[in-house]
Amino acid sequence: MQELILKKCSSCGALVKVINDCHCPCQIRCCDKEMITLKANSVDASMEKHVPTFAVVNNSLKVNVNHVMDEDHFIEWIMFVTEDKEETVYFKPGDIAEAIFPYKEGILYSYCNKHGLWSQEVYSKDE
Ligand SMILES: [Fe+2]
Repeated sequence: MQELILKKCSSCGALVKVINDCHCPCQIRCCDKEMITLKANSVDASMEKHVPTFAVVNNSLKVNVNHVMDEDHFIEWIMFVTEDKEETVYFKPGDIAEAIFPYKEGILYSYCNKHGLWSQEVYSKDE
């Protein structure tokens, strides 16, 4: 499974998706500092309001994040990463944090503008 690597700048808040991570001593930097690698489900906040949940409907994943969608606190996107593909659905305040993807094995991610990265594994039908 392809791993999602996101790095965030602790100064300006820039968020970067990394395709091949840097393993040099220099690391990936922003604002003159090493960027922080985000770890899913590691922030001290309500799991049930951030972790994406899903239902399998007609061979599709119907994904939902049960989170407020206020101006200053909302789910920015939901991403589904599979063996060979990733898809992202973006949201703005007032939207409903829902997305539909083809059903296959993968990892669902959601990103809250205040509480960071959250994930949920999706297993194939055979497991
Ligand atoms: Fe949040």
